[in-house]
Amino acid sequence: MDTHVVLFGLLCLFDLCIGQGVLRCNPELQENRDYLGKNIILLPSPDVNHCQLLCTQHPNCQFFSYVRADSSDEANRFHCNLRTGLRKKVKQPGVTSGFSLKACSPDPEPCLSQLYHGVSFSGADYQTLFTSDYESCQRVCTNDPYCRFFTFFNESFETAKYRYKCHLKYNWNIPRTPFVKKLSGLVSGYSQKLIIAQPVTACEVQLFTNAEILGNHTRHLLTASPEHCHALCTAHPQCTYFVYDSEDYKCYLKDDPNEMVMRAKDGVTSGISASFCQHENNWAKKTTAGVDFWGADLDDLLADDAEGCQRACTENPHCQFFSYVTKTFSNRNLRRICYLKSSITLPVPYDVSNLANAVSGFSLRSCALSTIPEVQVPGSST
Ligand SMILES: *[C@@H]1O[C@H](CO)[C@@H](O)[C@H](O)[C@H]1NC(C)=O
Repeated sequence: MDTHVVLFGLLCLFDLCIGQGVLRCNPELQENRDYLGKNIILLPSPDVNHCQLLCTQHPNCQFFSYVRADSSDEANRFHCNLRTGLRKKVKQPGVTSGFSLKACSPDPEPCLSQLYHGVSFSGADYQTLFTSDYESCQRVCTNDPYCRFFTFFNESFETAKYRYKCHLKYNWNIPRTPFVKKLSGLVSGYSQKLIIAQPVTACEVQLFTNAEILGNHTRHLLTASPEHCHALCTAHPQCTYFVYDSEDYKCYLKDDPNEMVMRAKDGVTSGISASFCQHENNWAKKTTAGVDFWGADLDDLLADDAEGCQRACTENPHCQFFSYVTKTFSNRNLRRICYLKSSITLPVPYDVSNLANAVSGFSLRSCALSTIPEVQVPGSST
């Protein structure tokens, strides 16, 4: 049964060291087993395949245990436990465990075609409408570039006035840098894979420097540049404009389609969503000196300069952004280390639970583009 081999430790070839070790591609799932180790994060997930993809996209997840819909542990059903440092495997009915597919060259935008009957994905709504059936709701979702997943209430839904209601839902599909900190001697940047070929109708990104747009923000993130903040605003269905503070790297997204009041403010950059344009990822070309994209480490290696680190990030299929320790950094022992980093871009519902006469699923947008429709996982049948 346990034929997989997981090697950890430091592997150094010439001057290239891979800190996180080498994982063999092992897509096998084990039912009614809980793999114990260090917990990283607990995420809602509708099935074990989605859970395995979450582990695959998480920078340091090595394996996972998924609490299935049939588990007697009602409170933890539909939860995906991402873990590292396998300690032991124990018998646990209702739990399926397996490993990250990082070593299996997974599709970064996998096709999620499974439908979930009697299941609700709650939260993250940006729009609702009425459709005649769940197929139409899924079609609307697939055709709307913002939509990542949906929940539909069918004609038997308990509350009569919500029957035929289609909820369109969003979560981030472009990489986010979880922490951005000032740190002199470091250079941070992004994988050049993120830069798609220049679309024909891309429009100029207009930024208002030393200007603030007033009003409350709906959410905030950390980004190293106003351009990345602009890209996040553009990608979000509920962002009309943003304000970026270069002092603490905070990117404030605001949502007011009625008015826009601007005033002068030093050190602040503002801009409006370019959702009417084709997305361009020029923000990813820029590297920033004196900034650390703290945490989210996927791997580390040695590189001669920031360009070499960026190349390593671009060549690594999982790397989205990096931080490089230059030779001016105070601690000599850390100089030349290139940290490769990543974040989850898979659709993740806020919560997954049983709900009679609800049907949930994902946008099929990536299915049309992807050549391999689904990650084939042997032994996943019940
Ligand atoms: C409504 O949804 C439930 C759960 O998905 C399903 O069992 C039921 O057959 C559906 N009802 C109709 C009339 O389609």
